[in-house]
Amino acid sequence: MEIATSHAKVPPPPVHVAIIMDGNGRWAKARGLPRTLGHKRGAEAVRRAVEFARETGISYLTLYAFSSENWKRPAGEVTDLMGLLRLYLRNEVASLHKNGIRLKVIGDRTRLGADILELIAEAEAKTAANAALTLTLALSYGGRDEIVTAARRLAEEVAAGRMSPEQIDEAALTARLFTVDMPDPDLVIRTSGEKRISNFLLWQSAYAELVFLDVLWPDFGAEAFEAALTDFHRRERRYGAASG
Ligand code: IPE
Ligand code: IPE
Ligand code: MG
Repeated sequence: MEIATSHAKVPPPPVHVAIIMDGNGRWAKARGLPRTLGHKRGAEAVRRAVEFARETGISYLTLYAFSSENWKRPAGEVTDLMGLLRLYLRNEVASLHKNGIRLKVIGDRTRLGADILELIAEAEAKTAANAALTLTLALSYGGRDEIVTAARRLAEEVAAGRMSPEQIDEAALTARLFTVDMPDPDLVIRTSGEKRISNFLLWQSAYAELVFLDVLWPDFGAEAFEAALTDFHRRERRYGAASG
């Protein structure tokens, strides 16, 4: 028999939450401020999201920070975004490390600057053994690009005679994605009211629950994160099975 207590039963948090952090430009525009200020405030929202995820017991938080398509933005905006990334890597890694957070980066590293690559390598090495939360930044990341890269690697292995075409299955492809050590996202959140995936974790999100929030990314905090989790907990995940 279940004993009623005064505490509401809290369901376990999703293991992996991924967020499409959108709306920095609109946040700035609404205030008559330059876009770069929106991005700056967006970086502060990243701090809040990471803290909330760690406190809530989420194991993996993946943040879409810069897409393979974002290289098409004006050079000045790209420079500003890379500058903020540099600041984040310089200023936040110590506190991530102190809080037991492991930092990882996924995406096409060949397009990132040498100094940023160095900061990433340092941060990944320093935090590699941490286990409270894995924070993954998707940088210069595109889901299609990731799948193409994995397919090319498989083709190379077949061409070299190390693998036969029959050995190519879902597990073989999954093992060649940037996300190789990560479980698939349970929940994908997008802010700013847009309802699209924009090339984020295409393969990995096959059965993710999608939550779209109207809040603009610089305004994102515990309250919005909480609302997304509440929505998530109401969903029935079926993975193709009959409804119960
Ligand atoms: C998200 O905000 C940040 C990045 C995509 C790098 P946006 O810059 O896309 O903001 P909106 O969509 O123009 O409001
Ligand atoms: C998606 O946002 C990419 C990131 C949040 C990094 P965008 O603002 O680039 O997406 P679209 O152009 O509206 O689809
Ligand atoms: Mg946008």
